[in-house]
Amino acid sequence: MQIAVVGTGYVGLVVGACLAESGNDVTCCDIDAAKIARLNAGEIPIYEPGLEPLVERNLEQGRLHFTTEVDRGVAEAEVIFIAVGTPPGEDGSADLKHVLAVAGTIGRNMPATGPEKIVITKSTVPVGTAGKVREAILKHTNRTFHVCSNPEFLKEGAAVQDFMKPDRVVVGVDSEHARQRLGELYAPFVRTGNPVLFMDIASAEITKYAANAMLATRISFMNMVAGLCEAVGADVARVRQGIGTDDRIGQSFLFAGIGYGGSCFPKDVKALVHTLQAVGVDASILDGVEQVNEAQKKLLLERVTERFGEDLSDLTFGVWGLSFKPETDDMREAPALTVVRGLIERGARVRAHDPQARHEAEHYFADLLEDGSLQLCDGNYDCIEGADALLVLTEWQPYRHPDFERIKNRLSQPLIFDGRNLWDPEKMRGYGFHYVSIGRPAVAPLTVATAAAAGE
Ligand SMILES: NC(=O)c1ccc[n+]([C@@H]2O[C@H](COP(=O)([O-])OP(=O)(O)OC[C@H]3O[C@@H](n4cnc5c(N)ncnc54)[C@H](O)[C@@H]3O)[C@@H](O)[C@H]2O)c1
Repeated sequence: MQIAVVGTGYVGLVVGACLAESGNDVTCCDIDAAKIARLNAGEIPIYEPGLEPLVERNLEQGRLHFTTEVDRGVAEAEVIFIAVGTPPGEDGSADLKHVLAVAGTIGRNMPATGPEKIVITKSTVPVGTAGKVREAILKHTNRTFHVCSNPEFLKEGAAVQDFMKPDRVVVGVDSEHARQRLGELYAPFVRTGNPVLFMDIASAEITKYAANAMLATRISFMNMVAGLCEAVGADVARVRQGIGTDDRIGQSFLFAGIGYGGSCFPKDVKALVHTLQAVGVDASILDGVEQVNEAQKKLLLERVTERFGEDLSDLTFGVWGLSFKPETDDMREAPALTVVRGLIERGARVRAHDPQARHEAEHYFADLLEDGSLQLCDGNYDCIEGADALLVLTEWQPYRHPDFERIKNRLSQPLIFDGRNLWDPEKMRGYGFHYVSIGRPAVAPLTVATAAAAGE
Protein backbone atom coordinates (compact mmCIF):
# COMPACT_ATOMS: atom_id res chain seq x y z
CA MET A 1 0.00 0.00 0.00
CA GLN A 2 1.03 3.58 -0.53
CA ILE A 3 1.28 5.03 2.98
CA ALA A 4 2.09 8.45 4.45
CA VAL A 5 2.97 8.81 8.11
CA VAL A 6 2.73 12.44 9.20
CA GLY A 7 4.89 13.20 12.23
CA THR A 8 8.21 11.38 12.37
CA GLY A 9 8.79 11.24 16.11
CA TYR A 10 9.06 8.29 18.51
CA VAL A 11 5.82 6.84 17.14
CA GLY A 12 5.77 7.94 13.50
CA LEU A 13 9.29 6.78 12.76
CA VAL A 14 8.71 3.33 14.24
CA VAL A 15 5.33 2.95 12.53
CA GLY A 16 6.77 4.07 9.19
CA ALA A 17 9.82 1.80 9.37
CA CYS A 18 7.80 -1.25 10.47
CA LEU A 19 5.15 -0.76 7.75
CA ALA A 20 7.92 -0.42 5.15
CA GLU A 21 9.48 -3.62 6.49
CA SER A 22 6.29 -5.50 5.63
CA GLY A 23 6.55 -4.34 2.00
CA ASN A 24 4.56 -1.12 1.91
CA ASP A 25 5.77 2.06 0.24
CA VAL A 26 5.99 4.53 3.13
CA THR A 27 6.67 8.26 3.15
CA CYS A 28 7.38 9.73 6.56
CA CYS A 29 6.59 13.45 6.57
CA ASP A 30 7.59 16.02 9.15
CA ILE A 31 7.79 19.80 9.31
CA ASP A 32 11.06 19.57 11.25
CA ALA A 33 13.54 20.05 8.41
CA ALA A 34 16.59 19.26 10.56
CA LYS A 35 15.08 15.93 11.62
CA ILE A 36 14.25 14.97 8.03
CA ALA A 37 17.75 15.95 6.85
CA ARG A 38 19.31 13.71 9.50
CA LEU A 39 17.03 10.81 8.57
CA ASN A 40 17.84 11.20 4.89
CA ALA A 41 21.51 11.11 5.82
CA GLY A 42 20.91 7.77 7.54
CA GLU A 43 21.03 9.19 11.08
CA ILE A 44 18.39 8.18 13.62
CA PRO A 45 17.41 11.17 15.78
CA ILE A 46 16.22 9.07 18.74
CA TYR A 47 17.58 6.09 20.64
CA GLU A 48 15.31 3.10 20.12
CA PRO A 49 16.72 -0.45 20.12
CA GLY A 50 16.46 -2.18 16.73
CA LEU A 51 15.24 0.88 14.86
CA GLU A 52 18.44 1.87 13.10
CA PRO A 53 18.93 -1.29 10.97
CA LEU A 54 15.24 -1.28 10.08
CA VAL A 55 15.36 2.30 8.83
CA GLU A 56 18.67 1.75 7.04
CA ARG A 57 17.45 -1.38 5.24
CA ASN A 58 14.13 0.08 4.11
CA LEU A 59 15.71 3.36 3.06
CA GLU A 60 18.28 1.47 0.99
CA GLN A 61 15.66 -0.76 -0.59
CA GLY A 62 13.56 2.26 -1.56
CA ARG A 63 10.44 1.45 0.48
CA LEU A 64 10.95 4.22 3.05
CA HIS A 65 11.22 7.92 2.26
CA PHE A 66 11.58 11.02 4.41
CA THR A 67 10.28 14.41 3.37
CA THR A 68 9.23 17.81 4.62
CA GLU A 69 6.76 18.01 1.73
CA VAL A 70 3.74 16.98 3.76
CA ASP A 71 1.41 18.16 0.97
CA ARG A 72 2.89 15.78 -1.55
CA GLY A 73 3.20 12.92 0.91
CA VAL A 74 -0.49 12.98 1.82
CA ALA A 75 -1.65 13.66 -1.75
CA GLU A 76 0.08 10.53 -3.05
CA ALA A 77 -0.87 8.11 -0.24
CA GLU A 78 -3.93 5.91 0.04
CA VAL A 79 -3.47 5.38 3.79
CA ILE A 80 -2.43 8.35 5.95
CA PHE A 81 -1.39 7.98 9.57
CA ILE A 82 -1.49 11.12 11.68
CA ALA A 83 1.25 10.61 14.29
CA VAL A 84 2.00 14.17 15.42
CA GLY A 85 2.26 15.22 19.05
CA THR A 86 -0.80 15.91 21.23
CA PRO A 87 0.76 17.86 24.10
CA PRO A 88 -1.30 18.94 27.10
CA GLY A 89 -2.99 22.32 26.77
CA GLU A 90 -3.08 24.73 29.72
CA ASP A 91 -6.19 23.07 31.17
CA GLY A 92 -4.73 19.56 30.80
CA SER A 93 -6.81 18.68 27.76
CA ALA A 94 -5.00 17.26 24.71
CA ASP A 95 -4.01 20.05 22.37
CA LEU A 96 -5.21 19.00 18.92
CA LYS A 97 -3.70 21.86 16.93
CA HIS A 98 -1.08 19.66 15.20
CA VAL A 99 -3.60 16.89 14.45
CA LEU A 100 -6.12 19.32 12.97
CA ALA A 101 -3.41 21.15 11.02
CA VAL A 102 -2.53 17.84 9.36
CA ALA A 103 -6.23 17.15 8.70
CA GLY A 104 -6.45 20.55 6.94
CA THR A 105 -3.38 19.66 4.85
CA ILE A 106 -4.99 16.36 3.87
CA GLY A 107 -8.20 18.14 2.84
CA ARG A 108 -6.37 20.76 0.79
CA ASN A 109 -4.39 18.10 -1.02
CA MET A 110 -7.14 15.62 -1.75
CA PRO A 111 -6.69 14.60 -5.39
CA ALA A 112 -9.72 14.59 -7.70
CA THR A 113 -9.14 10.95 -8.68
CA GLY A 114 -7.55 7.83 -7.22
CA PRO A 115 -8.46 5.47 -4.37
CA GLU A 116 -10.61 6.63 -1.46
CA LYS A 117 -8.19 7.77 1.22
CA ILE A 118 -8.11 6.28 4.69
CA VAL A 119 -7.05 8.79 7.35
CA ILE A 120 -5.96 7.24 10.63
CA THR A 121 -5.41 8.99 13.95
CA LYS A 122 -2.38 7.20 15.40
CA SER A 123 -1.67 10.01 17.85
CA THR A 124 -3.33 9.63 21.24
CA VAL A 125 -6.45 11.77 20.92
CA PRO A 126 -9.55 12.29 23.08
CA VAL A 127 -12.86 10.71 22.22
CA GLY A 128 -14.56 12.74 19.52
CA THR A 129 -11.35 13.68 17.67
CA ALA A 130 -12.03 11.54 14.59
CA GLY A 131 -15.16 13.62 14.03
CA LYS A 132 -13.12 16.84 14.23
CA VAL A 133 -10.57 15.43 11.79
CA ARG A 134 -13.37 14.55 9.39
CA GLU A 135 -14.81 18.09 9.63
CA ALA A 136 -11.41 19.70 9.08
CA ILE A 137 -10.89 17.63 5.91
CA LEU A 138 -14.45 18.22 4.68
CA LYS A 139 -13.87 21.99 4.67
CA HIS A 140 -11.70 21.48 1.59
CA THR A 141 -13.10 18.54 -0.35
CA ASN A 142 -16.25 16.69 -1.27
CA ARG A 143 -14.49 13.45 -2.20
CA THR A 144 -15.27 10.30 -0.24
CA PHE A 145 -12.65 9.42 2.42
CA HIS A 146 -12.59 7.35 5.62
CA VAL A 147 -11.43 8.34 9.10
CA CYS A 148 -10.31 5.66 11.59
CA SER A 149 -8.84 5.59 15.06
CA ASN A 150 -5.87 3.27 15.50
CA PRO A 151 -4.22 4.10 18.84
CA GLU A 152 -0.64 3.00 19.32
CA PHE A 153 0.41 0.91 22.31
CA LEU A 154 4.15 0.62 21.66
CA LYS A 155 6.54 1.21 24.57
CA GLU A 156 9.63 3.31 24.08
CA GLY A 157 12.61 1.03 24.55
CA ALA A 158 10.77 -1.92 22.95
CA ALA A 159 8.87 -0.01 20.27
CA VAL A 160 9.96 -2.02 17.23
CA GLN A 161 9.22 -5.33 18.91
CA ASP A 162 5.85 -4.02 20.16
CA PHE A 163 4.83 -2.85 16.71
CA MET A 164 6.04 -5.95 14.88
CA LYS A 165 4.44 -8.33 17.40
CA PRO A 166 1.60 -6.44 19.07
CA ASP A 167 -0.48 -7.98 21.88
CA ARG A 168 -3.42 -6.60 19.95
CA VAL A 169 -4.22 -3.96 17.37
CA VAL A 170 -7.18 -1.72 18.15
CA VAL A 171 -8.95 -0.13 15.19
CA GLY A 172 -12.03 2.08 15.37
CA VAL A 173 -13.82 2.17 12.01
CA ASP A 174 -17.15 3.24 10.63
CA SER A 175 -16.88 1.84 7.11
CA GLU A 176 -16.47 -1.64 5.69
CA HIS A 177 -13.87 -0.37 3.22
CA ALA A 178 -11.61 0.95 6.00
CA ARG A 179 -12.09 -2.23 8.00
CA GLN A 180 -11.04 -4.39 5.10
CA ARG A 181 -7.98 -2.32 4.11
CA LEU A 182 -6.72 -2.03 7.68
CA GLY A 183 -7.27 -5.75 8.20
CA GLU A 184 -5.01 -6.35 5.18
CA LEU A 185 -2.42 -3.83 6.38
CA TYR A 186 -2.09 -5.41 9.82
CA ALA A 187 -2.35 -9.06 8.75
CA PRO A 188 1.45 -9.58 8.57
CA PHE A 189 1.84 -8.38 12.20
CA VAL A 190 -0.75 -10.70 13.77
CA ARG A 191 0.08 -14.00 12.07
CA THR A 192 0.46 -15.79 15.42
CA GLY A 193 -3.16 -15.07 16.23
CA ASN A 194 -3.06 -11.94 18.34
CA PRO A 195 -6.26 -10.08 17.58
CA VAL A 196 -7.02 -7.04 15.48
CA LEU A 197 -9.91 -5.67 17.48
CA PHE A 198 -12.28 -3.72 15.27
CA MET A 199 -14.71 -1.51 17.14
CA ASP A 200 -16.55 1.78 16.87
CA ILE A 201 -14.34 4.86 16.72
CA ALA A 202 -15.27 6.30 20.13
CA SER A 203 -14.43 3.03 21.91
CA ALA A 204 -11.05 2.85 20.15
CA GLU A 205 -10.23 6.42 21.18
CA ILE A 206 -11.17 5.70 24.80
CA THR A 207 -9.23 2.40 24.85
CA LYS A 208 -5.85 4.14 24.58
CA TYR A 209 -6.55 6.49 27.50
CA ALA A 210 -8.06 3.72 29.58
CA ALA A 211 -4.95 1.56 29.04
CA ASN A 212 -2.47 4.27 30.01
CA ALA A 213 -4.57 5.47 32.94
CA MET A 214 -4.83 1.88 34.24
CA LEU A 215 -1.05 1.40 34.05
CA ALA A 216 -0.40 4.75 35.73
CA THR A 217 -2.93 3.79 38.42
CA ARG A 218 -1.06 0.56 39.16
CA ILE A 219 2.19 2.49 39.57
CA SER A 220 0.68 5.10 41.88
CA PHE A 221 -1.17 2.40 43.80
CA MET A 222 2.10 0.58 44.49
CA ASN A 223 3.80 3.83 45.42
CA MET A 224 1.05 4.43 47.96
CA VAL A 225 1.61 0.92 49.33
CA ALA A 226 5.35 1.69 49.41
CA GLY A 227 4.60 4.69 51.63
CA LEU A 228 2.71 2.41 54.01
CA CYS A 229 5.57 -0.10 54.00
CA GLU A 230 8.08 2.62 54.87
CA ALA A 231 5.86 3.94 57.67
CA VAL A 232 5.60 0.55 59.39
CA GLY A 233 8.93 -1.03 58.43
CA ALA A 234 7.58 -3.49 55.86
CA ASP A 235 9.07 -4.31 52.44
CA VAL A 236 7.17 -3.34 49.29
CA ALA A 237 9.12 -5.87 47.20
CA ARG A 238 7.63 -8.67 49.29
CA VAL A 239 4.16 -7.18 49.07
CA ARG A 240 4.57 -6.96 45.29
CA GLN A 241 5.47 -10.65 45.10
CA GLY A 242 2.60 -11.44 47.41
CA ILE A 243 0.00 -9.76 45.24
CA GLY A 244 1.58 -10.13 41.78
CA THR A 245 1.41 -13.92 41.97
CA ASP A 246 -2.36 -13.63 42.08
CA ASP A 247 -3.50 -14.31 38.50
CA ARG A 248 -6.20 -11.70 38.81
CA ILE A 249 -3.57 -9.03 39.53
CA GLY A 250 -0.46 -10.11 37.56
CA GLN A 251 3.13 -8.95 37.88
CA SER A 252 3.41 -5.97 35.53
CA PHE A 253 3.58 -2.33 36.55
CA LEU A 254 3.77 -3.03 40.26
CA PHE A 255 7.26 -1.69 40.94
CA ALA A 256 7.51 1.10 43.48
CA GLY A 257 9.82 3.96 42.58
CA ILE A 258 10.08 7.71 42.15
CA GLY A 259 7.06 7.94 39.90
CA TYR A 260 6.09 7.62 36.28
CA GLY A 261 7.16 10.10 33.61
CA GLY A 262 7.56 10.12 29.87
CA SER A 263 5.58 11.62 27.06
CA CYS A 264 2.45 9.55 27.64
CA PHE A 265 1.28 8.70 31.17
CA PRO A 266 1.40 12.21 32.68
CA LYS A 267 -0.31 13.91 29.75
CA ASP A 268 -2.77 11.10 29.06
CA VAL A 269 -3.93 10.91 32.68
CA LYS A 270 -4.44 14.70 32.66
CA ALA A 271 -6.32 14.57 29.35
CA LEU A 272 -8.58 11.76 30.56
CA VAL A 273 -9.37 13.70 33.74
CA HIS A 274 -10.31 16.64 31.54
CA THR A 275 -12.57 14.50 29.34
CA LEU A 276 -14.24 12.86 32.36
CA GLN A 277 -14.94 16.24 33.93
CA ALA A 278 -16.24 17.62 30.63
CA VAL A 279 -18.91 14.91 30.48
CA GLY A 280 -19.63 15.01 34.22
CA VAL A 281 -18.03 11.70 35.27
CA ASP A 282 -16.17 11.59 38.60
CA ALA A 283 -12.41 11.61 37.99
CA SER A 284 -11.27 11.35 41.61
CA ILE A 285 -9.41 8.04 41.11
CA LEU A 286 -7.17 9.69 38.54
CA ASP A 287 -6.81 12.87 40.62
CA GLY A 288 -5.35 10.59 43.30
CA VAL A 289 -3.07 8.86 40.79
CA GLU A 290 -1.62 12.21 39.76
CA GLN A 291 -1.22 13.46 43.33
CA VAL A 292 0.66 10.35 44.40
CA ASN A 293 2.92 10.62 41.36
CA GLU A 294 3.76 14.28 41.95
CA ALA A 295 4.66 13.51 45.56
CA GLN A 296 6.68 10.48 44.51
CA LYS A 297 8.88 12.49 42.16
CA LYS A 298 9.92 14.61 45.17
CA LEU A 299 10.51 11.69 47.51
CA LEU A 300 14.27 11.34 47.04
CA LEU A 301 14.70 15.09 47.52
CA GLU A 302 12.88 14.77 50.83
CA ARG A 303 15.14 11.91 51.85
CA VAL A 304 18.20 13.95 50.94
CA THR A 305 17.04 17.00 52.90
CA GLU A 306 16.10 14.84 55.89
CA ARG A 307 19.71 13.75 55.90
CA PHE A 308 21.53 16.99 55.06
CA GLY A 309 18.99 19.75 55.85
CA GLU A 310 17.33 22.18 53.43
CA ASP A 311 20.57 23.94 52.56
CA LEU A 312 22.61 21.69 50.28
CA SER A 313 25.31 24.20 49.35
CA ASP A 314 28.84 22.77 49.45
CA LEU A 315 27.41 19.33 48.69
CA THR A 316 27.84 17.40 45.45
CA PHE A 317 25.56 14.59 44.31
CA GLY A 318 26.25 11.97 41.69
CA VAL A 319 23.18 10.96 39.65
CA TRP A 320 22.82 7.74 37.69
CA GLY A 321 20.09 7.90 35.05
CA LEU A 322 18.20 10.84 33.56
CA SER A 323 15.78 9.33 31.02
CA PHE A 324 12.27 8.62 32.29
CA LYS A 325 12.90 4.89 31.99
CA PRO A 326 15.70 2.64 30.71
CA GLU A 327 16.31 1.87 27.03
CA THR A 328 15.19 5.29 25.86
CA ASP A 329 16.77 8.74 25.62
CA ASP A 330 13.38 10.38 26.25
CA MET A 331 13.42 12.79 29.18
CA ARG A 332 9.94 14.22 28.78
CA GLU A 333 8.41 14.54 32.31
CA ALA A 334 11.25 12.41 33.69
CA PRO A 335 11.47 12.39 37.51
CA ALA A 336 15.13 13.40 36.99
CA LEU A 337 13.93 16.87 35.96
CA THR A 338 12.37 17.38 39.40
CA VAL A 339 15.19 15.77 41.35
CA VAL A 340 18.18 17.41 39.64
CA ARG A 341 16.57 20.87 39.68
CA GLY A 342 15.45 20.37 43.29
CA LEU A 343 18.97 19.56 44.43
CA ILE A 344 20.46 22.52 42.57
CA GLU A 345 17.76 24.95 43.79
CA ARG A 346 18.87 24.03 47.32
CA GLY A 347 22.46 24.94 46.50
CA ALA A 348 23.93 21.54 45.56
CA ARG A 349 26.12 20.72 42.61
CA VAL A 350 25.18 17.68 40.54
CA ARG A 351 27.26 15.40 38.34
CA ALA A 352 25.10 13.10 36.24
CA HIS A 353 25.44 10.16 33.89
CA ASP A 354 22.99 8.53 31.51
CA PRO A 355 23.89 5.89 28.91
CA GLN A 356 21.74 7.48 26.17
CA ALA A 357 20.06 10.71 27.25
CA ARG A 358 23.08 13.03 27.22
CA HIS A 359 21.93 15.09 24.25
CA GLU A 360 18.41 15.37 25.70
CA ALA A 361 19.90 16.44 29.04
CA GLU A 362 21.88 19.14 27.24
CA HIS A 363 18.56 20.50 26.02
CA TYR A 364 16.54 20.19 29.25
CA PHE A 365 19.32 21.42 31.54
CA ALA A 366 20.96 24.01 29.24
CA ASP A 367 20.77 26.69 31.98
CA LEU A 368 22.28 24.46 34.67
CA LEU A 369 25.09 23.33 32.38
CA GLU A 370 25.83 26.91 31.50
CA ASP A 371 26.08 28.12 35.11
CA GLY A 372 28.13 25.05 36.04
CA SER A 373 25.78 23.71 38.73
CA LEU A 374 25.31 20.54 36.65
CA GLN A 375 27.97 18.54 34.88
CA LEU A 376 27.29 15.61 32.56
CA CYS A 377 29.82 12.81 32.78
CA ASP A 378 30.80 10.16 30.23
CA GLY A 379 31.21 7.38 32.78
CA ASN A 380 28.93 6.46 35.68
CA TYR A 381 31.86 6.13 38.07
CA ASP A 382 33.29 9.53 37.00
CA CYS A 383 30.20 11.30 38.23
CA ILE A 384 30.49 10.06 41.81
CA GLU A 385 34.14 11.00 42.34
CA GLY A 386 34.20 12.89 45.65
CA ALA A 387 30.38 13.13 45.72
CA ASP A 388 28.51 13.20 49.03
CA ALA A 389 25.96 10.64 47.83
CA LEU A 390 24.81 8.70 44.80
CA LEU A 391 21.22 9.02 43.61
CA VAL A 392 19.84 6.37 41.24
CA LEU A 393 17.00 7.76 39.12
CA THR A 394 16.70 5.32 36.18
CA GLU A 395 17.10 1.54 36.30
CA TRP A 396 19.45 1.20 33.32
CA GLN A 397 20.79 -2.34 32.90
CA PRO A 398 24.48 -1.39 33.29
CA TYR A 399 23.74 0.00 36.76
CA ARG A 400 22.37 -3.27 38.06
CA HIS A 401 25.67 -4.98 38.79
CA PRO A 402 28.15 -2.24 39.58
CA ASP A 403 31.45 -2.55 41.40
CA PHE A 404 30.31 -1.53 44.89
CA GLU A 405 33.86 -1.23 46.19
CA ARG A 406 34.58 1.24 43.43
CA ILE A 407 31.43 3.22 44.30
CA LYS A 408 32.45 3.30 47.97
CA ASN A 409 35.98 4.38 47.19
CA ARG A 410 34.83 7.23 45.00
CA LEU A 411 32.07 8.65 47.21
CA SER A 412 33.17 10.89 50.06
CA GLN A 413 30.80 8.88 52.27
CA PRO A 414 29.06 5.56 51.55
CA LEU A 415 25.56 6.89 50.99
CA ILE A 416 23.09 5.90 48.27
CA PHE A 417 19.53 7.06 47.58
CA ASP A 418 18.04 4.53 45.20
CA GLY A 419 14.84 5.69 43.52
CA ARG A 420 14.45 2.44 41.58
CA ASN A 421 15.15 -0.26 44.18
CA LEU A 422 18.01 -1.75 42.17
CA TRP A 423 19.81 -3.47 44.99
CA ASP A 424 19.11 -5.64 48.00
CA PRO A 425 19.18 -3.58 51.22
CA GLU A 426 20.80 -6.33 53.29
CA LYS A 427 23.59 -6.76 50.77
CA MET A 428 24.10 -3.00 50.66
CA ARG A 429 24.38 -2.98 54.41
CA GLY A 430 26.96 -5.74 54.13
CA TYR A 431 28.92 -3.73 51.55
CA GLY A 432 29.05 -0.90 54.04
CA PHE A 433 26.52 1.55 52.64
CA HIS A 434 23.85 3.75 54.12
CA TYR A 435 21.19 2.74 51.62
CA VAL A 436 17.84 4.45 51.23
CA SER A 437 15.35 2.98 48.75
CA ILE A 438 11.59 3.16 48.14
CA GLY A 439 9.11 1.27 50.31
CA ARG A 440 11.81 -0.75 52.05
CA PRO A 441 13.57 -0.12 55.35
CA ALA A 442 16.61 2.15 55.02
CA VAL A 443 19.79 0.41 56.16
CA ALA A 444 23.01 1.61 57.75
CA PRO A 445 26.37 -0.14 57.38
CA LEU A 446 27.21 -2.94 59.74
CA THR A 447 29.60 -1.69 62.38
CA VAL A 448 31.28 -3.83 64.99
CA ALA A 449 28.72 -2.57 67.53
CA THR A 450 25.64 -3.11 65.34
CA ALA A 451 26.91 -6.51 64.20
CA ALA A 452 27.41 -7.60 67.81
CA ALA A 453 23.95 -6.27 68.76
CA ALA A 454 22.47 -8.20 65.84
CA GLY A 455 24.37 -11.31 66.93
CA GLU A 456 26.35 -11.46 63.64
N1 LIG B 1 6.11 8.19 22.54
C1 LIG B 1 5.39 7.12 22.84
O1 LIG B 1 5.85 6.18 23.49
C2 LIG B 1 3.95 7.02 22.38
C3 LIG B 1 3.30 5.79 22.45
C4 LIG B 1 1.98 5.70 22.00
C5 LIG B 1 1.33 6.84 21.52
N2 LIG B 1 1.98 8.04 21.50
C6 LIG B 1 1.27 9.20 20.95
O2 LIG B 1 1.71 9.41 19.61
C7 LIG B 1 1.74 10.81 19.32
C8 LIG B 1 3.14 11.21 18.87
O3 LIG B 1 4.03 11.00 19.95
P1 LIG B 1 5.61 11.05 19.76
O4 LIG B 1 6.21 10.65 21.05
O5 LIG B 1 5.98 10.32 18.52
O6 LIG B 1 5.82 12.63 19.51
P2 LIG B 1 7.14 13.36 18.98
O7 LIG B 1 7.09 14.72 19.58
O8 LIG B 1 8.34 12.51 19.17
O9 LIG B 1 6.88 13.50 17.40
C9 LIG B 1 5.90 14.28 16.83
C10 LIG B 1 6.42 14.77 15.48
O10 LIG B 1 5.36 15.44 14.78
C11 LIG B 1 5.93 16.50 14.04
N3 LIG B 1 4.87 17.45 13.65
C12 LIG B 1 4.18 18.32 14.42
N4 LIG B 1 3.29 19.00 13.67
C13 LIG B 1 3.39 18.52 12.41
C14 LIG B 1 2.73 18.81 11.19
N5 LIG B 1 1.75 19.72 11.13
N6 LIG B 1 3.09 18.14 10.08
C15 LIG B 1 4.08 17.22 10.12
N7 LIG B 1 4.75 16.90 11.26
C16 LIG B 1 4.41 17.55 12.39
C17 LIG B 1 6.97 17.07 14.98
O11 LIG B 1 7.93 17.84 14.28
C18 LIG B 1 7.56 15.79 15.59
O12 LIG B 1 8.68 15.32 14.85
C19 LIG B 1 1.27 11.50 20.59
O13 LIG B 1 -0.11 11.71 20.50
C20 LIG B 1 1.56 10.50 21.68
O14 LIG B 1 0.70 10.64 22.78
C21 LIG B 1 3.28 8.16 21.90
